[in-house]
Amino acid sequence: MLTSKSTENLFLIGMMGSWKSTVGRKLAEALKLEFIDTDDAIEEMTEMKVADIFREFGEEKFREMETAFFVEKAKQKGQLFSTGGGIILSAENRKVLQENGITFLLDATPQTLANRIHNTTKRPLLSDSDNLEERLQNIWNDRHQLYIDYADHVINTDNLEPPQVLAEILNILEVSNADH
Ligand code: S3P
Repeated sequence: MLTSKSTENLFLIGMMGSWKSTVGRKLAEALKLEFIDTDDAIEEMTEMKVADIFREFGEEKFREMETAFFVEKAKQKGQLFSTGGGIILSAENRKVLQENGITFLLDATPQTLANRIHNTTKRPLLSDSDNLEERLQNIWNDRHQLYIDYADHVINTDNLEPPQVLAEILNILEVSNADH
């Protein structure tokens, strides 16, 4: 079903609250790919929650762990990655997105994301903010161009529900496969 590039891997990128994990799990099931959530994998490996890693070791250390895991794991094929929102910050990670599979950006405005995110305790970059939308807007401003630049396909999810996002991705993959 997938094109030759995508038989390597599929990557979902985007901000916190963009439904990468919700959609990714279903997409992996539909395409019979191994599902990898980078945050879950790091939590399993370290036996620590992401929020605790940030608190105890700092963001930089978390980024190192994230990149070390991602670069190594993406060498295998046939996987669907739901990536942490900050995956785009590292040049090494961006190289992986470019070279090891097809990348879908689940795009959404900071307003939409703020409406979707109810619990910020699991998200250390948001947990100390009294204005969620403003915080998301600042992060979005720093990253949005990178997300766009490294996406093979951009799905605007503002007016969609997760099943529709899933259907849109499957549709894109089928169409691009039919072209080959
Ligand atoms: C982060 C996003 C989180 C997690 C960490 C940092 C970010 O993942 O990796 O809290 O920098 O955007 P989700 O995008 O899955 O929430």
